[in-house]
Amino acid sequence: MDHPHVPIARAGGDLTRPSTDARPMRVVVLGTGYVGLTAAACLAELGHRVTGLDVDEALVERLGAGIVHIVEEGLADLVGAGLASGNLSFAAAPAAAPTVPAPGGCDGSVGGIVDTASVALARADVVLLCLPTPTRADGSLDVAFVEGAARWIGPILAPGAVVVTKSTVPVGTHVALAEWLDRDDIAVVSNPEFLREGTAVRDFAEPDRVVVGGDDPAAVGRVAALYATIDAPVLTMDAASAELVKVGANAFLAARLSMVNELSRLCERVGADIDDVTAGLGSDHRIGATFLRPGPGWGGSCFPKDTRGLVHLAASVGLRAPVVEAAIESNEEHVAHVVATVAAAAGGTLRGRRIAVWGLTFKAGTDDCRDSPALRVVEGLVAAGAEVVATDPAARVQPSGVRIVADAAAAAEGADVVVVATEWPEFAAVDLADVADGMRGAVIVDTRDVIDPLSARCAGLTLRRLGRTHGDVAAIVDRPALAGVA
Ligand code: UGA
Repeated sequence: MDHPHVPIARAGGDLTRPSTDARPMRVVVLGTGYVGLTAAACLAELGHRVTGLDVDEALVERLGAGIVHIVEEGLADLVGAGLASGNLSFAAAPAAAPTVPAPGGCDGSVGGIVDTASVALARADVVLLCLPTPTRADGSLDVAFVEGAARWIGPILAPGAVVVTKSTVPVGTHVALAEWLDRDDIAVVSNPEFLREGTAVRDFAEPDRVVVGGDDPAAVGRVAALYATIDAPVLTMDAASAELVKVGANAFLAARLSMVNELSRLCERVGADIDDVTAGLGSDHRIGATFLRPGPGWGGSCFPKDTRGLVHLAASVGLRAPVVEAAIESNEEHVAHVVATVAAAAGGTLRGRRIAVWGLTFKAGTDDCRDSPALRVVEGLVAAGAEVVATDPAARVQPSGVRIVADAAAAAEGADVVVVATEWPEFAAVDLADVADGMRGAVIVDTRDVIDPLSARCAGLTLRRLGRTHGDVAAIVDRPALAGVA
């Protein structure tokens, strides 16, 4: 982080950098979920004076005491450091817009405003909106929280403050946001976040790029200056483009994974190996080697929401997004394929079979189970009549019809098949000889490639891995002969 003077790659080829300097700013972050809390703690670490606001008073109290509610590597330490340095504080935001007087000054003399949240807002140079935008039944995103917040903060903010959308918002939100704020002297900027859960702090500190979109060059420059000490290219553009980069990136990555998972299904049928196939694909620099791991399907709080949101956006402007629609459909098919693979491993039926599921979160390193493919697999197993016993080191969920136990070995006790659904490193370290002793059957279906094939073989277990036909694997599903191939 020693390179404040990076060139700006501007859409359209303009390489001028907006006026940025590394001056610490007063920042308010509205919403202390994954995106908001990470942004607040990291910006405080960069030297800014940050106040995190949330409507959940109990949560604010815990955060103020340094207790972090999210499983995210390094985040608790950063929050603790921010609180200790005085750069980071938290305050409760009123759930409903309070009555406040006209905007106050930036010197702390905010006559009439008594609550901490309003004082922080009245002094803020930049306000980051990190609020939920839940998906409605039709795939559109509900922006009620953003609207409520904008209508609340509009009258409080000082002239010249910049309001930034950071968590995902529907494309076009910047226009509505300006209306809700109802202030000519406040600029709206889109600065989408690209961090991944589980590596959020690292992704914030070492981003591939910082995207800042807006019409007002001074406001864009101020938001870019928040990251002046981070060594990353800053891409400036209009707000609609910045909003579309966010959902476009997630839809692109989701489509890529649907493609990989489709190829892994094909591998199983034609005797190819997905590791070899992705190595070959990834060596083409136009494709790239990362984000090519097959799994039980993609999930989480972002890909499902953003793909559906993009399909809805296209429909709302009279277009279709058939590639994204197909990516969603392929992902659903893939979950069904995993369930069918487990059924085959259990002898052709799931009815009455005991299945151990290792992992419930949508990926390792997080406690987040939103739209988790592991849970969708569990649902499929239960629906097909299996008795499911599951375990996860971090998840705090109780899927219907499932018994949750403390660890992997306990889950495997008496199981016909073990399914590895999340890539927790704990599962790679399990003593497979113990597992084999306790199981009724002898097959592990590893959707995440965490189990060592040799260890499985030594323990007398059959390992079934998605799309992987080489190495120590016994095929369970009969492979049909290739039509037309001798
Ligand atoms: C995703 C994006 O990667 C972030 O850039 C973005 O900021 C974030 O959404 C967001 O919009 O907030 P995240 O949902 O945390 O991040 O998780 P990813 O690591 O991208 O994984 C998404 C899904 O794809 C998971 O189910 C994961 O298991 C799966 N995946 C990922 C694979 O199956 N294979 C891979 O090679 C990579």
